[in-house]
Amino acid sequence: MTRSLLITGGAGFIAGNLVHHWAAAHPADRLVVLDALTYAGNRATIAPLIDSGRVAFVHGSITDGPLVTALLADHGITHVAHLAAESHVDRSISGPGAFLDTNIHGTFVLLEAFRTHWTAAGSPDHWRFLHVSTDEVFGSLEPHDPAFHEGTPYAPRSPYAASKAASDHLARAWQHTYGLPVLVSNCSNNYGPYHFPEKLIPLTLINILLGRPIPVYGDGQNVRDWLFVEDHCRALDRILEAGTPGGTYCIGGCNEVANLDLVHQLCDLMDELAPELPVRPSRGLIRFVADRPGHDRRYAIDASLLQRELGWQPQVTVAEGLRRTVAWYLAHPDWWRPLLSDTYAAYLDSQYAQRLNP
Ligand code: NAD
Ligand code: DAU
Repeated sequence: MTRSLLITGGAGFIAGNLVHHWAAAHPADRLVVLDALTYAGNRATIAPLIDSGRVAFVHGSITDGPLVTALLADHGITHVAHLAAESHVDRSISGPGAFLDTNIHGTFVLLEAFRTHWTAAGSPDHWRFLHVSTDEVFGSLEPHDPAFHEGTPYAPRSPYAASKAASDHLARAWQHTYGLPVLVSNCSNNYGPYHFPEKLIPLTLINILLGRPIPVYGDGQNVRDWLFVEDHCRALDRILEAGTPGGTYCIGGCNEVANLDLVHQLCDLMDELAPELPVRPSRGLIRFVADRPGHDRRYAIDASLLQRELGWQPQVTVAEGLRRTVAWYLAHPDWWRPLLSDTYAAYLDSQYAQRLNP
């Protein structure tokens, strides 16, 4: 069966990796990307696939109903992988409005447009809408709590997490009420190539390359469950191929690491792999700064349902994944250097100054 797959947010980090994965893994499928190219979107991430004609790129917002409706019809979309979002927790604290607009209203617009499109086609059983979400909807774990799983009650604590939780509820409501073939996934922290350098891992790597301070929030003991982005893409592929409509799947790496330990590993890898560095050893750049307001202490995912039902498990260990990530950033200054615009540098400086002098 040939699919016509719409990937929203395909110029971003995870969806960009998913576009590359899908183009290679499913050569017969048609691929369409809808992306607003916000500060986090980078056409360069998928430019070779757009320029070769493999991917049809539509520049626009998921909140634009008429655009989305026309796109679904024009491209004969049968499947949607919905990843477009405002994704950075710190930005959701300083400016929550865009998160409500894109993550909640945008998801509503997409669901409604896809429902109309699906109904007009006679409600085909094999069409799918995969809503990609986060483990942050479950709240925060104490050190000895069991990991989050599909039955964990929702308890979002940041504006970002609350907006994603709302969008998850919308997606499930459209499945329950209208029978739309919707699936939801909740994933832990991703890392890997094409990661925008405001998130901890790429920010640390680029600050080391530039000799800038590495800001570690609070005591550095907050724990995240890290998953290499290609493993996440393989999970999304399995869910779209074989997941049960109406189902929810938790995706995680079984790789819990405290932030300070992670930063130490990144510093040591950079010392080993980078030919030249302004400051060596890189650990000398670490600065403890004011904590993120409401900072969730620990996330961890139990992905056993996905392993049992769909035969997925992570293939990349954190040691290998971090090494590959460091090597990728060292080899691709052409990708990240243009992102260091004056505006972006000013944003980072203001974040850093606020945290040093709260
Ligand atoms: P990202 O910030 O790197 O990319 C988001 C993309 O969405 C960008 O290309 C941006 O231009 C686009 N976008 C933003 N608003 C849009 C709009 N209104 N219309 C169309 N496009 C728009 O995000 P990411 O980190 O790759 O996350 C992708 C998805 O995965 C999000 O839904 C996020 O909640 C979820 N997720 C992320 C992680 C993670 O660790 N990064 C983990 C679990 C789930
Ligand atoms: O858990 C999944 C989530 O992971 C996704 O839903 C989000 O979209 C994604 O951004 C990510 O959220 P986090 O807040 O966990 O990621 P971030 O890289 O911003 O921060 C990771 C940890 O590192 C967190 O505990 C905060 C801390 N941190 C972050 C930055 C940017 C620092 O100590 N210093 C920093 O400069």
